[in-house]
Amino acid sequence: MKTEHDGQDSHAFTAEARAAIYQTIFSRRDVRGQFLPKSVPDEVLSRILTAAHYAPSVGFMQPWNFLVVRSDETKRQVHAAFLEAHAEATEMFEGKQRAAYKTLKLEGILESPVGICITCDRQRTGPIVVGRTHMKTMDLYSSVCAVQNLWLAARAEGLGVGWVSIFNQAALQTALGIPKGITPIAYLCVGYVSHFYAKPELEAAGWLPRLQIENLVYFDQWGQSDLQDPLIRQLMFDQALAQANANATVHQPTTGLNAA
Ligand SMILES: Cc1cc2nc3c(=O)[nH]c(=O)nc-3n(C[C@H](O)[C@H](O)[C@H](O)COP(=O)(O)O)c2cc1C
Repeated sequence: MKTEHDGQDSHAFTAEARAAIYQTIFSRRDVRGQFLPKSVPDEVLSRILTAAHYAPSVGFMQPWNFLVVRSDETKRQVHAAFLEAHAEATEMFEGKQRAAYKTLKLEGILESPVGICITCDRQRTGPIVVGRTHMKTMDLYSSVCAVQNLWLAARAEGLGVGWVSIFNQAALQTALGIPKGITPIAYLCVGYVSHFYAKPELEAAGWLPRLQIENLVYFDQWGQSDLQDPLIRQLMFDQALAQANANATVHQPTTGLNAA
C-alpha cells in the first residue's frame, strides 16, 4: 500500500481514488443472509456486468456468459439443486464439524432479488488459444476474474454478492438450461443488504481464521521465508491496517451473526 510520499508513480490514482479501491477490496464480503427485498435497477446491474466483462482473459478469449436469473421458478429450481448437494455435503463432515456445518447459512438463492450465473465457454475461440496452449485451465480462471470484477463493483454499488458452489454441476446446468459444452463457474446471489460484516462469516463463526500473510510469502524458491525481510514487516502492518479498514467501513450488528 503506497502513501503520498513513498514512491507514488505518475500513473497512480489520486490518494482518494486509491483509498476507495482498497476500501472496496477490504470491505467486500460473501453475503448469504442479509438480502433485502429491494430490486436492483438495470443501470446498476448493467454497470456491474460491464465491470465483469472488462476482466482479463487468457488470449482475450472472453469465455464468459452472464445468465441473469430473475424468475422465482428458476430460483426455486436452483435452490432445489442446492438443497440436494447441501444434504450430501453435510454427510461429508464428521462429529462436531458436521454439527457446526449444519448451522452455517451458505446461500441466499431465494432471498436475493437477482441471481447471476457466470459461465465459461471453453471452445469460444477454438481449440488453440494464446496463453492456454499448455495450462488448459486458464480459461476457467479467466471467468473467475470476471466474477471478482463483478463482486468488487457490486460492493462499491452497495450490493451484496454471495457465491454458491454447493451443487452437483449437472443439476445446476439442468436448472439453468446450460448446455453440456458450457461450464458454470459461479452462481451469484446479488442484492441490496441490511449490512455487511467486517469479517468473513466463516471466520466469525470460528470455522477458520484468516491466515497471517507473513506465513504465506516466500522468496525466490518455494518454502523459503524470511520473517526479517522488510517486506514481511510491511505486510504484517498492512494486514492489520486492512482489517482496521474493514472494521471501520462496516455497520455491523452485534447479534445474529451466523444463524442459518
Ligand atoms: C470459489 C468460491 C466458492 C464459494 N462457494 C460458497 C458457497 O457455496 N457458499 C457460501 O456460503 N460461500 C461460498 N463462498 C464464499 C466463501 O465462503 C467466502 O469467500 C470466504 O469465507 C471468505 O469470506 P468473504 O468472501 O466474506 O471475505 C465461495 C467462495 C469462492 C471463492
